Amino acid sequence: MKILVTGGTGALGRVVVDRLLPDGHDVTVVSRRARPERAAGTPGWATVDWRTGTGLDAAIDGADAVVHCATSYRGIDLERRLVETARQADGPHIVYISIVGVDRIPFPYYRLKLAAERLLADSGLPHTVLRATQFHGLVRELFALGSRSPVMPVLDMRVQPIDVTDVAGRLAELATGQPAGRVTDMGGPEVRTVRDLARTYLRVTGRRRVVAPIRLPGKAFRAFRAGGNLTPGHAVGTVTFEDYLRRLSDPATTSYRGVH
Ligand SMILES: NC(=O)c1ccc[n+]([C@@H]2O[C@H](COP(=O)([O-])OP(=O)(O)OC[C@H]3O[C@@H](n4cnc5c(N)ncnc54)[C@H](OP(=O)(O)O)[C@@H]3O)[C@@H](O)[C@H]2O)c1
Repeated sequence: MKILVTGGTGALGRVVVDRLLPDGHDVTVVSRRARPERAAGTPGWATVDWRTGTGLDAAIDGADAVVHCATSYRGIDLERRLVETARQADGPHIVYISIVGVDRIPFPYYRLKLAAERLLADSGLPHTVLRATQFHGLVRELFALGSRSPVMPVLDMRVQPIDVTDVAGRLAELATGQPAGRVTDMGGPEVRTVRDLARTYLRVTGRRRVVAPIRLPGKAFRAFRAGGNLTPGHAVGTVTFEDYLRRLSDPATTSYRGVH
């Protein structure tokens, strides 16, 4: 199949690409950046200007599926551009990765994700939407930043972090299958308090810090505290946060992408 992966440079997207390539698919990374020096066997590359759509129309021509992993915190212009361009092409299957609880938690970025889900549902295009819980890498990055000071602030809430390899595997499966609309949510193997995970992080990285849970005001954080970001009934991820950290050569890194 010819499959585009938008944001194929990102934390999740690059793992999706790695999943699809060995199965012989014709995979193209869609990125705002120019193609880096490429070695044999790496995927195709399309440099796209999302503001104008330049590059996207040519890339999408003849595509069977688009796994949309690019994201913007500012709005849903990317998704509007994708839908518009896909309509003018042969209407490829669009697979969208969203977040568990976007309809329960009025957090600004989650509102955008929900709006993007609705845009797709109303687009008339063949599509599939998977909601996943927070990635291990995001939780680790927050701990890495928070542990720069002797008192490490953590949110007073629970998370169910999941490994990007599990999510990427599921996206690859969905992209090569039939459009299914919204599919069952996907969560990590354990529901833990952030405070507890912070202690795991400190143990694995050999640091000593005072972990200080903080309670942020507002509806969004109340909804997080109520567990709106969790899906305990779908704890299908296979890698625990501790396993993930122990697999890393530098678990204390503050980088996000490419660390998995
Ligand atoms: N992180 C989590 O915990 C989590 C949990 C569940 C679902 N998700 C969803 O999974 C998807 C991928 O997340 P991720 O953490 O892998 O993302 P990411 O690494 O932060 O970003 C993915 C890619 O988006 C592109 N991008 C960033 N800002 C952009 C902008 N303003 N305009 C156009 N492209 C832009 C970048 O590609 P180029 O620079 O190559 O253009 C980047 O590599 C997102 O939709 C996210 O909402 C994330």
